Amino acid sequence: MDVRSTPRTQLESLVTPLLAIPVAKGADEAIHVPPLPEGLTEFEARVRSDLTGDTGSTVVVRSGSAEGAVRIAFIGVGDAGSDGVDAEAVRRFAARAVRVAEEIHVDEAAVLLPDALQVSDEAAARAAAEGMVLAAWRFRELKTGVGETRAPVSVARGVVVVPTSSADAAEGAVEIGEVVAAAENAARDLQSRPGNVATPSHLAEEARRLADDAGLEVEVLGPRDMQKERMGALLAVAQGSTEEPRLIILRHQGGKPGEKPLVLVGKGLTFDAGGISIKPAKGMEEMKFDMSGGAAVIAAMWAIGRLGVARNVVGVVPSSENLLGASAVKPGDVVTSRNGRTVEVINTDAEGRLILADALDYAVGMEPEAMVDCATLTGAVVIGLGHHASAVLGTDDTLVQELRDAGDRTGERCWPLPLWPEFRTQLESTTADLKNVGGRPGGTITAAIFLREFVGDVPWAHLDIAGTAYGDGGKVPYRRNGGYGVPTRLLVEWVRGRAG
Ligand code: BES
Ligand code: MN
Ligand code: ZN
Repeated sequence: MDVRSTPRTQLESLVTPLLAIPVAKGADEAIHVPPLPEGLTEFEARVRSDLTGDTGSTVVVRSGSAEGAVRIAFIGVGDAGSDGVDAEAVRRFAARAVRVAEEIHVDEAAVLLPDALQVSDEAAARAAAEGMVLAAWRFRELKTGVGETRAPVSVARGVVVVPTSSADAAEGAVEIGEVVAAAENAARDLQSRPGNVATPSHLAEEARRLADDAGLEVEVLGPRDMQKERMGALLAVAQGSTEEPRLIILRHQGGKPGEKPLVLVGKGLTFDAGGISIKPAKGMEEMKFDMSGGAAVIAAMWAIGRLGVARNVVGVVPSSENLLGASAVKPGDVVTSRNGRTVEVINTDAEGRLILADALDYAVGMEPEAMVDCATLTGAVVIGLGHHASAVLGTDDTLVQELRDAGDRTGERCWPLPLWPEFRTQLESTTADLKNVGGRPGGTITAAIFLREFVGDVPWAHLDIAGTAYGDGGKVPYRRNGGYGVPTRLLVEWVRGRAG
């Protein structure tokens, strides 16, 4: 989708098939519609008694005129409170405008920003662009169209009507929103591809394609390189499959030469059957999403390149399948990770931490200023935090706080869990240096404690996205059933924040 901005003074003459106007609930449940130019007040007057301001409530009117907007959708944005509407409410409002466009089969939607905002005009304009681009995404690659009576419409154009006083700044903000949302959509494409399409080598090829498009450097390691690097943990996970593993490295040189990089690491497990410790059949198809962290890192790197962020940033994605072929790693096997630590593989389904161990240790060699990994790592995080927050755990409080703030601003929220030393005892092994599982209690924490063994002194944080990276779309209008692309926007926001 292409998004442009236009100043509010142009509202009356804006030619568009659909204009969405936000309706907020003000104090005393009073309905608040932004002041409209004369040509549009007539429509508001016609439906005023139907407007509630309730989030998502929608009233559509036809203008009947060939000029200006053909249809007007009044869409509720909920309580504006005394602070005004927040960025996430704007994102969802703009996404709902796209859903209305889809329903009435038009390929463009324009949105007017709410007046009472909790955030700056720029932040709101950006959120609106994001909401529209994210909502317009669908995954149709593997549909032939056979049996469809009417192909769904793709909303191809979006317009954000911005306050005239901040029109220039808002224009730039819309462009940033477009790029980060397009990146998140790219992550969703990668996530949506099934395991037989999105193999580790496919992920590497896609990383190359996106890197070329954004001016990033790419390096891809295969199994022989991994042997040279002594990546025994990553290789152990891959040995049960005929698909070769890959370690994908993307570099953005936006900072001074020699400046310490920020490093993003993402779990790129393209299908997790559990290995010999096989998973139950029910829902196993969801394990094609076990590369969501890797997809987000590749996509975030693309956006970082596109936006020309003034920092050196490296993306590292270990990618493998976790199957149960004849040569698969077995429970009880001991493997030696790249940093020399021996690991007793108690459960082959705890494979994410094994591939990340070698990737994190490899990244430590780049002497990062800070390192963030994201991974669909534990079922436990879904029990702990459900689908509305990723867990964040790390060795550096400032970094954890930065990620929480970036999550709040992007609507990709994360919530902290502790890394207290007491949890480390759960990983003690009689045979090796440590076990790869720590039992059911605190499963998300012990997984992160395991990762911490491989980050050295680098300020590091881990995002467990098993509950937030994909799902049925929830009630979020800019998502659908499938991959969400989380935490692509959060990662870009964090890196941009560090760029100052
Ligand atoms: N990929 C899974 C985690 C997962 C669970 C992702 C649910 C998405 C939804 C991971 O590799 C895994 O299997 N973890 C195990 C670890 C256990 C064996 C210690 C788990 O959480 O059950
Ligand atoms: Mn697993
Ligand atoms: Zn997994």
